[in-house]
Amino acid sequence: MSHDTERRVQIALSKFRDTNTASSSGTPGQANVINTAPVSKQPRVVNDAQLLDVDKDGLNMRLKSEQEQMQASDSVRMMWIFREKLPAFKMRDQLLQSISKSQVLVVSGETGCGKTTQLPQFILEHEIANGRGASCNIICTQPRRISAISVATRVAAERGENIGETVGYQIRLESRQSVDTRLLFCTTGVLLRKLVQDPNLRGVSHVLVDEIHERGMNEDFLIIILRDLLPQRPDLRLVLMSATINAELFSQYFGNAPMVQIPGFTFPVAQYYLEDILEKTSHRVSSEDGGRGRGYQDRSRRDKVDALSAVFEATDIDKEYSNYSRVTKQSLQSWSSEKLDLGLIEAAIEYICRHEGEGAILVFLTGWDDISKLLDQIKENPFLRDQEKFLVLPLHGSMPTINQREIFQRPPIGMRKIVIATNIAETSITIDDVVYVLDCGKAKETSYDALNKLACLLPSWISKASALQRKGRAGRVQPGVCFHLYPKLIFEAMPQYQLPEILRTPLQELCLQIKSLQLGYVSEFLSKALQPPEPLAVQNAIELLITIGAFDESEQLTPLGCHLATLPMDPRIGKMLLMGAVFQCLGPALTIAAALGHRDPFVLPIDRKEAADEARRRFAGDSYSDHIAILRAFESWQLAKLDGRDRQYCWQNYLSSATLNMLENMRLQFLDLLSDIGFYDHSRGLQSYNKYSSNLEMVRAVLCAGLFPSIVQCKQRGKRTAFFTKEDGKVEPHPGSVNARVNYFPFPWLIYSDKVKTTGIYIRDSTNISDYAVLMFGGTLSSNKSGDGVEMLGGYLQFSATKKVAQLIQELRRELDGLLQQK
Ligand code: CDP
Ligand code: MG
Repeated sequence: MSHDTERRVQIALSKFRDTNTASSSGTPGQANVINTAPVSKQPRVVNDAQLLDVDKDGLNMRLKSEQEQMQASDSVRMMWIFREKLPAFKMRDQLLQSISKSQVLVVSGETGCGKTTQLPQFILEHEIANGRGASCNIICTQPRRISAISVATRVAAERGENIGETVGYQIRLESRQSVDTRLLFCTTGVLLRKLVQDPNLRGVSHVLVDEIHERGMNEDFLIIILRDLLPQRPDLRLVLMSATINAELFSQYFGNAPMVQIPGFTFPVAQYYLEDILEKTSHRVSSEDGGRGRGYQDRSRRDKVDALSAVFEATDIDKEYSNYSRVTKQSLQSWSSEKLDLGLIEAAIEYICRHEGEGAILVFLTGWDDISKLLDQIKENPFLRDQEKFLVLPLHGSMPTINQREIFQRPPIGMRKIVIATNIAETSITIDDVVYVLDCGKAKETSYDALNKLACLLPSWISKASALQRKGRAGRVQPGVCFHLYPKLIFEAMPQYQLPEILRTPLQELCLQIKSLQLGYVSEFLSKALQPPEPLAVQNAIELLITIGAFDESEQLTPLGCHLATLPMDPRIGKMLLMGAVFQCLGPALTIAAALGHRDPFVLPIDRKEAADEARRRFAGDSYSDHIAILRAFESWQLAKLDGRDRQYCWQNYLSSATLNMLENMRLQFLDLLSDIGFYDHSRGLQSYNKYSSNLEMVRAVLCAGLFPSIVQCKQRGKRTAFFTKEDGKVEPHPGSVNARVNYFPFPWLIYSDKVKTTGIYIRDSTNISDYAVLMFGGTLSSNKSGDGVEMLGGYLQFSATKKVAQLIQELRRELDGLLQQK
């Protein structure tokens, strides 16, 4: 599944439920209906139009100037002192002047220098001081939900206000703002949705696009639209904010817009690589080793060290430059295929806690899986599990807000905070008291191969820029230390910057958005991007959208396409959910869609692979379906959970409880999203959408609706079955699939989620489906030449159905289209 999907799903997941948060309104068609914030005040529901229609004189009276803020409370005064020390503060006048002189400004500066929290505030304060407080309307976008909330909360506190008064936030399905709100932090996706409603952004005076250096797909997309909008809105001001990378690129894109660089101040951070760390830990942990210390005391770790010694031998001697590139390449390869060594990370944490001075530790891992595994390991570590001494906090896009707040707070004296994070903590979130950083060197990233139409999400090496960024998280309040848990030569071999997301992910979701914003032809529009994607990638995306029925032949959105455009996820997953809801087998659709967006819940221990495969087959029974195996595994886990046997159940059945919990969480988020667009009614409950959930044929059909055109034809060849796809010819089910080594299938098609190319082309996770499922839920139908049937995919799939069946199918399809149109 695409990285973007996972990111988006995770963004969707991170719906922060917090007792202070007024619940969001789910009224379809009124996405911007919101509840106001302060708990002390009566919530008022307002929409965008009402937000503009504010009593300006009254509001100008209410808006606090800086002096009034200062008088508000001690805590505001304290924060003022903190603010004054930030590097951005010294640049305040210059920044404001540049903004008044030029329509576009590019601001760059070290992470933590005060761009996100200060710059929008400077503008707000300046407008208030000049009597324009009530008429300004500042929007600052954030790539992630968690940062939109945390920054808004922080800025409100700096102004001595409750969140939702002058300063608010808006993220998908949740918002805290009121008619008084003049500064809104929102996700980039929310601003894109505002643009759907009002392409001119009427009433908005300033747009600040933050974290632009990350080159996320949404941000790259947004700046194309804004660049086109600027001439039509000469009064609109645009500020692009970036870490210290590549500011020139953005300036050039906006016709050499002026740049302001905020000079950073951070304390020096000592940098160690794996070779240094092994040296350090072994000296300390095993001094009885005669100080030679090439390894840890315990056996398993020693193996690891032995395995690495080849790399060290070469890295140790920096002078040996001739060997350099060869070794680099080899070690990069061998390291890439290796899983993260959580044992090493645990050892490094323990080392710091035992031997280094005070200060919080920030650990960068690749995703929720690693995080939860490391948390488990720490719980069993006799030294680190002491909860009086160590406050261990995960930090991940899909966590509830409550936990996230703890992350910014300083722990009680004598306690050490250990934050275990994904790369979310790289630029978006600054935890001030971090003194030690542990960098695993990897992050989850998609790569998309347009030729083979393959997308995969794998942890891969980060860029040098990211590694340095991670390091920089340590020197915020005092000199820090960064441990890169990989050899120095890996660092040297890292690419300078990461490839922008738009160049390495499938573009389906983006194409849908371009259409729903009515931005013209996709390829024409995308050619205006900062770095335009390959034409082949664009073409693939358009073709796919036509095939799944989201676009018509002339690239216009169909009713289905309109719904898919509003769901923040891969359109195929979106389609599966919609069809699940429409055809009343929503429960299974939710579970399978979650597994597609995240991962399947089975674990594959290397030493017990056979037993694990066997477990999967047991769940599949005679369904000829990996997806149904996942579904049954999930459902029986839910039952086991009811009487508290879930852990044991996972253990016995080779399931990952972390993954299952994640899937359960994602299902709830999917329901919220469906309810937001009118396909689910919370008050009726899931059981009203499950009428056909135990009908496996229906489940197969809905699977087909989602996964088409990933379809394989099964042809009986004597006693065996051979498999073919349109684009690859002969393929095989993956050996781990329940459909591997099956000779006879009841139905002639397999629908699949993924294919991988190794020695041959293998299809992973597949389900055997019938002609009818394909006819009904596959791509666009057309009559075949002889007129006695129908065909699909330009004749690749032919069905000579009787006229009656063909008619029935056409009728059903029309009915479905009608239904989607009504919604
Ligand atoms: O955007 P930039 O990275 O330049 O910095 P920022 O996010 O504006 O943060 C400026 C300072 O405010 C940092 O020292 C943060 O640690 C602090 N801050 C905080 O204490 N709590 C927050 N929720 C956000 C920022
Ligand atoms: Mg920032």
